[in-house]
Amino acid sequence: MKKKIIYSGIQPTGNLHIGNYLGAVKNWVTLQNSGEYECYFCIVDYHSLAGNISAKDRHDQIIRTAAELIAAGIDPEKSVFYVQSHVPEHTELAWVFNTVTPIAELERMTQFKDKSEHQAKNINAGLFTYPILQAADILLYHGTHVPVGIDQVQHVELTRDVSRWFNKRYDKYFPETKALLTEIPKVMSLLEPMKKMSKSLGEGHVIELADEPEVVSKKLKKAVTATEGGDKAPGVENLLTLLEQFGSKEASSKFKEAEKDGSIRYGDLKSALANEISNYFADFRTKRNELLEDHDKIAEILMEGAKKASEVAGSTMNDVRKMVGIR
Ligand code: TRP
Repeated sequence: MKKKIIYSGIQPTGNLHIGNYLGAVKNWVTLQNSGEYECYFCIVDYHSLAGNISAKDRHDQIIRTAAELIAAGIDPEKSVFYVQSHVPEHTELAWVFNTVTPIAELERMTQFKDKSEHQAKNINAGLFTYPILQAADILLYHGTHVPVGIDQVQHVELTRDVSRWFNKRYDKYFPETKALLTEIPKVMSLLEPMKKMSKSLGEGHVIELADEPEVVSKKLKKAVTATEGGDKAPGVENLLTLLEQFGSKEASSKFKEAEKDGSIRYGDLKSALANEISNYFADFRTKRNELLEDHDKIAEILMEGAKKASEVAGSTMNDVRKMVGIR
């Protein structure tokens, strides 16, 4: 049987938060360490050009994201870990895929609609063709399984379609790709618990992996627990979910019981959770800070990763050029 190939990517949006961690990164590390897969993890800096960040911020964020992913457990010895733009075949294959993808299919993408609303003054063509570049990322390495959060499922389905469109028009070459969903696909904002936790909502909405214990505790104190109309408060649900993920089973069932019988004290829940999260990421914080003191080392790790990725990407592109008749 063929080896399963895991591929995933993350935007260099600065510090990772617990939504990124539970939705994607934690699962990446588990898959990597299972030894059952060939794994590729990519920092997708080309994708980030479609957003609004400045060149200087982007540069810093790439380094920081790399350090954080390594500190969180991505092991460059076990996985191919690299930066997208270091392997130019990504954009080359994306162009080929542009030419097999109907515009109408891109118009259906909900992330495009969301992002267009979010950056109404900068609805660039890159934002529109973003999922095609994503399909190229995955298919350059013949990725079969893509561990992502639920919001990316539509893009992975499009990747499967792109593969079919290409195979139908040229040759049966690319695999059928599937999303691999994590157990906890959605972590909600602390301040607006009806919305997904996201850095774009603002500082107080997210807990970053690098947050010092005082910061975690301060943010949780402000977390919204009030109900709006219905009887289940989404903010409380979110905190209970987080406690289950970062704390012990006993602690979380104790608070769940207390919630049911009405004896729960949100202050206690918040301080228990603050403790668990701070402890969970204690080693992470140390390792991250160590790594960030040596940018040259990070650059070297990324170069090594790009070398490995380039071998596969180069050979895929050679095949593709032949199949489409340009070489
Ligand atoms: N679009 C993904 C996100 O916003 C990032 C991404 C780019 C990605 N290329 C990918 C994810 C390939 C999985 C596979 O999170």
